[in-house]
Amino acid sequence: MKVVVGSEEKISALIAEDFINVIKNKPNAVLGLATGTSPLKVYADLIEANREGRVSFKDVTTFNLDEYVGLEGTHPQSYRYFMNDNLFNHIDIDKKRTNVLLGVGDYESFMKKYDGMIEDAGGIDIQILGIGSDGHIAFNEPGTPFDSLTHETPLTQQTIVDNSRLFNDISEVPTRAVTMGLKSIMNARKIVLIATGKNKAKAVYGLIKGEITEDMPCSILQRHPDVTVYCDEDAYSLVK
Ligand code: GLP
Repeated sequence: MKVVVGSEEKISALIAEDFINVIKNKPNAVLGLATGTSPLKVYADLIEANREGRVSFKDVTTFNLDEYVGLEGTHPQSYRYFMNDNLFNHIDIDKKRTNVLLGVGDYESFMKKYDGMIEDAGGIDIQILGIGSDGHIAFNEPGTPFDSLTHETPLTQQTIVDNSRLFNDISEVPTRAVTMGLKSIMNARKIVLIATGKNKAKAVYGLIKGEITEDMPCSILQRHPDVTVYCDEDAYSLVK
């Protein structure tokens, strides 16, 4: 596991370069994408690089990590809406090749097909991850089996409270989600994780130095051969 500590601007720019390099080497690369506020600057940098002609997304395929159960893709807090709004609407990507789990309708059968769809597309070349304050990655909450594939899960109270800042009221936060599993994430060839702020310090400690345990889902990444953790000083503060 490689660790890079720097300002949010710096680490976001470095992650954007990681993505650009993967796409340069493989124009039809498969990208694993994440939501949350952590990757926003990375996406802004990728939009700029696309505008400047430094990268093209026209042949890439994307798979997102997760979605809230109960939200339509048109709901402003759905992850489909987030991805369109913060990345896909601003780059030369073919929207038909952007995959986000469904949160409504026959979302269960789509969820069951998801790992197979990723495999059929050739597997994820680079996966970006954020991290929850309780150490969750995607929506794999503490206690999720390490061998999990894409599944439906209840959200912990901690995650509901953390994510309520993006909703008008905590009562509007969905209590369930569909998410790629820990095994689905570990199947990616290359993983980059971004963490900023003091409220991520405990999770970042567990990620880098903690015991590998299902109680700290991110700790499984210690077993992956190509992970880079990008964090700011605050998120890194308990590690040193
Ligand atoms: C949600 C998402 C995660 C994300 C986490 C942290 O729970 N499912 O993928 O990593 O929030 O979000 P933020 O980056 O806003 O702190």
